[in-house]
Amino acid sequence: MKLQPADLEQVQKQAQGKTPGKNVYVETFGCQMNKSDSEHMLGLLSEIGYNQTGDLKDADLMILNTCAIREGAEDKVYSYLGAWRKVKELREGALIAVGGCVAQDAGKNLIKRAPYVDIVFGTHNLHRLPELVLKAKQDGERVVEIFQELPDELPELPVIRQSDFSAWISVIYGCDYNCTYCIVPYVRGREKSRSREEINQELKELAEAGYLEVTFLGQNVTAYGHDLDPQIHLGDIIRDAGKIEALKRIRFITGHPRDLNVEIIDAVKEVPSACDYFHLPIQAGDDRTLRRMARGHKVDFYRKVVEEIRNRIPDAAITTDLIVGFPGETQEEFLNTVRLVEELCFDSCNTAAYSPRPHTPSANWPDQIPEEEKYERLRYLNTVVSEVSHRRNKRYLGKTVEVLVEGPSARNPERLSGRTTTNKLVNFEKPELETDPDALTGKLVEVTIDSANPWALRGTLVNAPALAKV
Ligand code: SAH
Ligand code: SF4
Ligand code: F3S
Repeated sequence: MKLQPADLEQVQKQAQGKTPGKNVYVETFGCQMNKSDSEHMLGLLSEIGYNQTGDLKDADLMILNTCAIREGAEDKVYSYLGAWRKVKELREGALIAVGGCVAQDAGKNLIKRAPYVDIVFGTHNLHRLPELVLKAKQDGERVVEIFQELPDELPELPVIRQSDFSAWISVIYGCDYNCTYCIVPYVRGREKSRSREEINQELKELAEAGYLEVTFLGQNVTAYGHDLDPQIHLGDIIRDAGKIEALKRIRFITGHPRDLNVEIIDAVKEVPSACDYFHLPIQAGDDRTLRRMARGHKVDFYRKVVEEIRNRIPDAAITTDLIVGFPGETQEEFLNTVRLVEELCFDSCNTAAYSPRPHTPSANWPDQIPEEEKYERLRYLNTVVSEVSHRRNKRYLGKTVEVLVEGPSARNPERLSGRTTTNKLVNFEKPELETDPDALTGKLVEVTIDSANPWALRGTLVNAPALAKV
């Protein structure tokens, strides 16, 4: 939420004559893991009486859950905090807390840079948040607490989910890889899986609460279970979830291609509710670059993984992440990445210009690529990515697909939007019915696809069981 001068006037008005209350506002940057953590922060704080507000101007506790993946994400943290400081000054007793990956890395230094911050906590001590807040309130002093690791016994965290039909379940924390560009292992620690029993319990509760979709989360979710005794794998919990009839869609993100074994692919194939969607970051389409990134596999290995998936599940969507301008990447090596996008016909790709990060080896390598060159490569790659995605999306023309409706379209509130099992965004006109068409939010409907662009599909609602019953 960006603040305008008029907002600050409103803060002053809203705050006048009020004693500090217990409204908490959380802003989340970064990956789904962070979004899920924010839901747990809200759950934890509700236990000491805090209610969520969607209005920063009304917040007694402002929490910024941060991401450190690229420099831009980190810069955003300090620019947001600068604006929040003004709110804090106008609202007596208001506190600012910073958590997440930047906080984990910066610790006390965050306070040096932003002395008006009251609480700094990391990625390994979410469960301590209520205590830290109470301490900051009681003592009126700054509280900084960072743990280097998760507790041996993973604490059970209460949760307030932001959706009532789609839920995230963190199943494995941390990452044991050491890709030479990546700060995640540093800020998220070693891999640690949650127990199968606990996950099953959560699945059961979600089904009872009416959730239709669950997404298993991990920085390296495909490694789930290797550290448990007995050792299990992601396919096992996909099959567990598949036995719960009320759960119609099961997803997982993000996996390392090296850990995606055939058992996992088979589980996706055989469990009807498992979505035929694989997000498998490759990062580069060039062997020398992959080696220098320490990804632990060659391009050919990845080709085989894609082949395995497409042999077993021909219509599966496969998406990836790509970094351009990695130190020392030649033009020819970059073009190998572009060629791989065309060859493997990804459904979509998240692309990024390499950003040097603290604590990562490649940040200190001498052969950094100039910014302009990185952005030139990024622009070129993006044009190819969108051509390929467009081609892939056109395969849906004329087909009728199942869509889980997420709500009004962000671009055009006259339309609803949702996703296919393959994670394609689908927009369609709201039906002209007497009942509230927004009642379709959180429902599975059928849509016939009429047009496709690189990022989304457009279609016509042909079947909406939810409305038919009204
Ligand atoms: N755990 C996931 C990725 C987590 S980070 C995995 O390994 O697949 C999400 C994405 O951010 C990465 O896939 C990578 O493409 C990108 N990324 C990570 N570090 C980066 C950096 N230093 N510069 C640019 N992009 C980066
Ligand atoms: Fe980062 Fe690599 Fe781990 Fe992914 S696998 S989180 S890119 S270190
Ligand atoms: Fe960012 Fe941390 Fe996720 S660095 S991508 S929020 S694990």
